[in-house]
Amino acid sequence: MVLPDEIIQLGRERIKPFACEGFVAYGGSFKEHIMIIGEAPGENEAIQGLPFIGRAGKVLDAMLEDIGVARQDVYITSAVKSRPFQWKEKKLQRAWVCKKYNRPPTREEVLAHAPVLDYELDRVQPRLIITLGKVGWNRVSGSTAMMSKIHGKLYTGPILRMNGNEELEHSQKSYRVFPLYHPASLLYKPSLKEEMKKDLTTLKVLLLEMLS
Ligand code: URA
Repeated sequence: MVLPDEIIQLGRERIKPFACEGFVAYGGSFKEHIMIIGEAPGENEAIQGLPFIGRAGKVLDAMLEDIGVARQDVYITSAVKSRPFQWKEKKLQRAWVCKKYNRPPTREEVLAHAPVLDYELDRVQPRLIITLGKVGWNRVSGSTAMMSKIHGKLYTGPILRMNGNEELEHSQKSYRVFPLYHPASLLYKPSLKEEMKKDLTTLKVLLLEMLS
């Protein structure tokens, strides 16, 4: 699958008012109808136009290996497909330099790219959605519950889709969504590794049932 030009243009246009750059279409394929939804690309991803190629991507690769799924067989995307950044001044070798840093996407940015994600949901027809972190989870479920409460538990039910009034509303269709911590969170909070291990064991069982 290739994202049609009009969808890419729509995404680029709708994100223009915000401090975001680049546009990462997606990674992998919809062979297994498994859709992984992250948060937003970082600097490397925005430059190369590929999702999860930085440090968090390495963690994601290890997670996929744990559950026995090849990266090219799953569809990898994010709630926002451009890199949200902020300018910050930092002192580097005695000189002050202004540099762009990653930041989490805002609600407005998530809404800006909602029609793109909705398009992908229709094309991929996921049998299972795996969300990485709270932005992806909140985008599809609308829930603001803390990750520590909901990670590793399968949700089955409607998800949020954008309507003609630019609002997110619940779908008629039921989806299966498995929320995980974002792989980057394991880098700055290694104590989450044990929780992730348990969640991946649960997910592996789910996938074995689903794919057999
Ligand atoms: N985090 C995401 O959610 N997506 C990426 O592509 C990289 C980091």
